[in-house]
Amino acid sequence: MHYRRLGRTGIKVSEISLGAWVTFGAQIDDARAKALVHSAYEQGVNFFDNADVYAKGRAEEVLGEAVKDLPREELVISSKVFFPTFEGPNGRGLSRKHITESIHASLKRLDLEYVDLYFCHRHDPDTTVEEVVQTMDILVRQGKILYWGTSEWDVLHLMQAITFAKDNGLIPPVVEQTRYHLMHRSHMENHLAPLCQEYGLGLTTFSPLNSGILSGKYNDGIPEGSRAAQADMQWILDRITPQVVEQVRQLTELATELDATTAQLAIAWVLRRKEVSSVITGASRLEQLDENLAAAEFEDQLSDDLLDKIDLIFNEGD
Ligand SMILES: NC(=O)c1ccc[n+]([C@@H]2O[C@H](COP(=O)([O-])OP(=O)(O)OC[C@H]3O[C@@H](n4cnc5c(N)ncnc54)[C@H](OP(=O)(O)O)[C@@H]3O)[C@@H](O)[C@H]2O)c1
Repeated sequence: MHYRRLGRTGIKVSEISLGAWVTFGAQIDDARAKALVHSAYEQGVNFFDNADVYAKGRAEEVLGEAVKDLPREELVISSKVFFPTFEGPNGRGLSRKHITESIHASLKRLDLEYVDLYFCHRHDPDTTVEEVVQTMDILVRQGKILYWGTSEWDVLHLMQAITFAKDNGLIPPVVEQTRYHLMHRSHMENHLAPLCQEYGLGLTTFSPLNSGILSGKYNDGIPEGSRAAQADMQWILDRITPQVVEQVRQLTELATELDATTAQLAIAWVLRRKEVSSVITGASRLEQLDENLAAAEFEDQLSDDLLDKIDLIFNEGD
């Protein structure tokens, strides 16, 4: 496993990490989640991503239980706040009230004294960036979180947060968590990468397989037990168009030439960007985890010629 600095901070994260969304506390049972965490840890993964809303809080309880017998100091554990956790006007968003209550609830569920990374899961138009920065600064000083960042924020608000923090001696956001995969690349490459360069922002990118589509598993229908076969996943089915299937088939041909699987090529493609501190993967089975972690082997094998061919298949994404 390779480790990368989180932007210009001193903390290092495994370049491939494991997230809990959809799986922990929901799709898979707790024993399998624990086995995934332990196997990932044994293979060098130190970063485990979570959020207050994943499986309505259950995902944090499951991760907390799974890491009980692992050395806390070796782990980088994250959570997030923004989406509704209870009814009512203060049950969501980034007000000082909701952030403070949400971190307390997350720490309780995780049974931890602090999280290493804490993300504002989206920008909140109802709360000023100043209030968010001040609140995060307080939480860092209280030792409840070590670093903070944003997720899917636009450049304007990110820059406002960084600038306000710097101008006022407060602790700035140091990481943005953004969707980045072969079919969704322009925001990261055109808008976030310059910020990484200028402000030393780190990136933890998510959904490298576009929810599994880029593994090729949906090329011949919807396998039983897969994410697209779960309830309420129409949005994935909508993404599996004949054109997408054709693109993934062509990606498989390139992967085969490299002796990689389709999923490994898709993950290695993300890792080629040095702005990426960690690519957050998801897995419902141990075999997927093993396959995905081995993607690092191909990171340095993506020739310009291969990258050009990939660009042609995906028309440089959106
Ligand atoms: N900040 C945000 O707003 C945000 C949003 C989304 C995700 N995230 C984070 O990013 C993490 C990863 O996102 P993601 O789960 O969407 O990642 P992904 O890698 O795009 O999809 C993971 C899913 O694809 C399938 N899969 C994984 N490896 C496979 C393989 N080798 N072969 C075949 N199928 C495979 C599994 O689902 P099945 O086996 O069920 O098909 C797995 O659960 C999340 O857990 C979360 O921590 C953050």
